[in-house]
Amino acid sequence: MKFKSIKGTKDILPGEVESWQRVEDTIRRVLRAFNYREIRTPIFEQTSLFARSIGELTDIVSKEMYTFIDRSEESLTLRPEGTAATLRAFIQNNLGEQTPLTKLYYMGPMFRQERPQAGRLRQFHQFGVEALGSSSPQLDVEMMLIALTVYRELGIQQFVLKVNSVGCQQCRPAYKKKLLHALQNVQSQLSPESQARVNQNPLRVLDSKDEKDQELTRTAPLMKDHLCPECSEHFLEVQKLLQSTETPFEIDGRLVRGLDYYTKTAFEIASSALGSQDALAGGGRYDLLVEELGGKPTPGIGFAAGMERLMMVLAKVGTPSPSDLNPILYIVTTDESSRRWAFTKASSLRSKGLRVEIDYLGRSVKAQMREANRQEAQYSVVIGETELQTQHAKLKNMKTGEESLVNLDELQSALRV
Ligand code: HAM
Repeated sequence: MKFKSIKGTKDILPGEVESWQRVEDTIRRVLRAFNYREIRTPIFEQTSLFARSIGELTDIVSKEMYTFIDRSEESLTLRPEGTAATLRAFIQNNLGEQTPLTKLYYMGPMFRQERPQAGRLRQFHQFGVEALGSSSPQLDVEMMLIALTVYRELGIQQFVLKVNSVGCQQCRPAYKKKLLHALQNVQSQLSPESQARVNQNPLRVLDSKDEKDQELTRTAPLMKDHLCPECSEHFLEVQKLLQSTETPFEIDGRLVRGLDYYTKTAFEIASSALGSQDALAGGGRYDLLVEELGGKPTPGIGFAAGMERLMMVLAKVGTPSPSDLNPILYIVTTDESSRRWAFTKASSLRSKGLRVEIDYLGRSVKAQMREANRQEAQYSVVIGETELQTQHAKLKNMKTGEESLVNLDELQSALRV
């Protein structure tokens, strides 16, 4: 074979695609219930949009973006996430002037040049949700509830909701200094990756997966214990709301997201059904980001969920295969005139929404019956010269084997769908 798909990308083939559609339908239904509207932004944007919002020093911006210079010498980047683009569109199209609270969602491919492994791709898909215009902690919890509702509706039960507060401009700088001090004491013993992070992005050292790093930072100060009164009150309210909605959660003081735009609430939903890449979804509040990107000061919160990881969990939980893919009727034909009749009939039944299949390959009656069986058609009917002359044919229920003589004009009503 000459061509292959790019490493870290995947074809979603028929058979799999139906599960995706089912999941997408569920997501849309849940988001409609929460009153969110879909937004579709371009796949690529100016590189500086992502560098500015996600943060120059993050892994995403410093080493994972698909960035290229186009023919007009402009630096463009395939979107590594959806928040920056959604906010760019929000500002550019003055969406905030139309409603005081803008509730948006999106679904689509994202691109990050990461080392591919189970659950980590270079082109992956997310569904994401963003609410712009309110600093109410109710919206923080609404975000978590949206994700959990989608998972529950799909039959996924095993997950943990982890919440933290990453503070704000008021309280984070002083905390960062304390953390830096604590980390510098153990810096030389940390893993090379964490050592490099101490000065550049000390908070990220806290969520290192390395066991020795975890041990060395066991007593390091945590942001949640150094919040200013406003952040502290907000965090407490989020916890109260989670309790009042009977939503189980864990406080994880080490939860630091890999994007720099967060303020106050940060959260992740992890599933034990996934391997080391166990984050199903992640998000948080970003009260300064709209302004940072050139818009009017507008608080915001959102999250995004990995679709491939969701599909991986679903495959483990074992979702029933959708039976609404099999043909309702397979019309078996014997000669040229019955093939012509079948084509017209199938077109007319299909236009009424019925899944009808016919033979396009001039196969024998026996081979067509085999095909009807293989496709698990509910009914089959054989049409030949006699059937066309008498305008009657035997409709066969493929499950029970039962046959009944039907008038060809009444074929549709004879199908018990
Ligand atoms: P994120 O944590 O970078 O957040 O990504 C969210 C989710 O996307 C992850 O929890 C994971 O399920 C999935 N994901 C990320 N990278 C990959 C990958 N390489 N392969 C497969 N799945 C992946 C964001 O993207 C933020 N924009 C979320 C957000 C929205 N915050 C506020 N609003």
